[in-house]
Amino acid sequence: LATIEVDVSSLQPGMSLTAKWRGRPVFIRNRTPEEIEAAKAVSLDELKDPVARNANIAGDAPATDLDRSAGEGKENWIVMVGVCTHLGCVPLGQQGDFGGWFCPCHGSHYDTAGRVRKGPAPENLAIPTFQFVSDTTIRIG
Ligand code: FES
Repeated sequence: LATIEVDVSSLQPGMSLTAKWRGRPVFIRNRTPEEIEAAKAVSLDELKDPVARNANIAGDAPATDLDRSAGEGKENWIVMVGVCTHLGCVPLGQQGDFGGWFCPCHGSHYDTAGRVRKGPAPENLAIPTFQFVSDTTIRIG
């Protein structure tokens, strides 16, 4: 389907789900305050890819935690295409050196904002076009 709607009402902080959109996995995570703080504490010059890669905002927006999240007031939510930007494997959640995602194919580590921090992946995990259509429903696409 070009567009899907996902009910995220069951996701307490620290919980994730994987939806399927246009044949690809999409990770939706309700991040904990600790995960958000960890991501906010990273300065942009530490990032391998300093671009947000967020289809909902300007193409050259920086990869701040806010610009990687669902935005002001919804910073706990992160929605990303679950395809490693190296060669397309599906990363594993809550693994790796930065507490975010880890791609076991060639060892790329992503942080709690889905930004690549180590390994061969060239870009942050892509954020698809999405919006909250209610407090608990996200439309992707
Ligand atoms: Fe993920 Fe190579 S496909 S590290």
